[in-house]
Amino acid sequence: MSTDNYRSLFSGIERKVLLANGEQIIPINFDNAATTPPLKKVDEFICENITMYGSVGRGGQKSEYCTNAYEISREMILKFFSLEEKDGYDVIYVKNTTEGINLLANILCDRNSKKILTTRMEHHANDLPWRELGKTFYCEVDEHGKLRVDDFEEKLKRARGTIRYVSVTGVSNVTGYVNPIHQLAKIAHRYGAKCIIDGAQMVAHRSIQIKGKNEEESIDALVFSGHKMYAPFGSGVVIAKREMIAGKRPFLLGGGAVEAVFDDDVYYKETPYKDEAGTPNFLGAMSIIAAMSVLKNIGYDKIVEHENILRDQLIRGLKSLPCIELYGDVENKERVGVIPFNVRHIEHNNLGKLLQDKRAIAVRTGCFCAHPYVTRLLKMTDEQRYKYMEQPSSVPIGMVRASFGLYNTEEEVDEFLNCLEDIIKHK
Ligand code: ALA
Repeated sequence: MSTDNYRSLFSGIERKVLLANGEQIIPINFDNAATTPPLKKVDEFICENITMYGSVGRGGQKSEYCTNAYEISREMILKFFSLEEKDGYDVIYVKNTTEGINLLANILCDRNSKKILTTRMEHHANDLPWRELGKTFYCEVDEHGKLRVDDFEEKLKRARGTIRYVSVTGVSNVTGYVNPIHQLAKIAHRYGAKCIIDGAQMVAHRSIQIKGKNEEESIDALVFSGHKMYAPFGSGVVIAKREMIAGKRPFLLGGGAVEAVFDDDVYYKETPYKDEAGTPNFLGAMSIIAAMSVLKNIGYDKIVEHENILRDQLIRGLKSLPCIELYGDVENKERVGVIPFNVRHIEHNNLGKLLQDKRAIAVRTGCFCAHPYVTRLLKMTDEQRYKYMEQPSSVPIGMVRASFGLYNTEEEVDEFLNCLEDIIKHK
């Protein structure tokens, strides 16, 4: 399928916006690591289902229809990741990755009695819940920001089997590095830990085989958001080994999660139902399976091929411009289209605003909800950061990030580079 055809699969991306000079223009969205526009198929599937909308697990024909479709959607999600019922995984619907990891941290940690290994590469959602609810250890990154697999193993070895869970991002939201998730799972299992993968930045860009080549390599839980995979309708997913989450006290408490409530006693349902208190987001679940069917039809080989072309073109272009500081290993091919950089003499927030005002280009600026990782890439110490906090007038810490979706084009990358060159020349 050509790039033009990829664009035709998406809703809203041709809708014009207003430039600072009053001109109307089709925007360029290079902020797909933050969120993505919907696929048309997702919109259509939601519209089809709206006419039959009713509450999952309540009364009436429409409720029956939704309950049935909701349960089938769990099976479809398992299938998307090549899992079958006999593999023993459950699908829990949540709001997004942040809620999914909070759910796991809450049900697995038992308030500080559990040790968790995460990394200095994580976005805050895969760091703060573990910090709050468990005892957290961190795997370091190297000078290019790559995960140090040797340190990952060392930390597990030193803990002598007391680390119960590792929780690692599949793909970095800052550098786009793709982590060796099956190798990490194998190491974690060797030391008696379960392996949780934050798939927020991975699921739209790389095929994920939860089971890996064998039991040792298989991932115990995967968490991701619909809104980062072209289904922005308020649903995310936790896929977890049933044995890992069964019988644990739920994170959110309320209707739908209970079998029976007495004056002084509560009986919870089995997972996944105990973990989905409240009225489920039926249309959100439908949006995710619709997006999955489109991604599957296109095929990850084609997705990777197209996004790698954009990634390489942008890195090449940025290298050829003056005053550009690129972060991370630009030769690394195990990297999705997420490119952080700075222009030396232009503060990152100003640059973002100039790109928006001059050509309606959307990028993200700042520390991308990953402060420990971004400051490592900037080679800043915490001591320097505390000093910055005491001087509110100083230049804010951060970078500019361009991140691609399937619908972005080589022409857009050219326009971005031209606009950037123009800004650099005139600043
Ligand atoms: N969603 C956050 C981002 O923009 C983490 O990368």
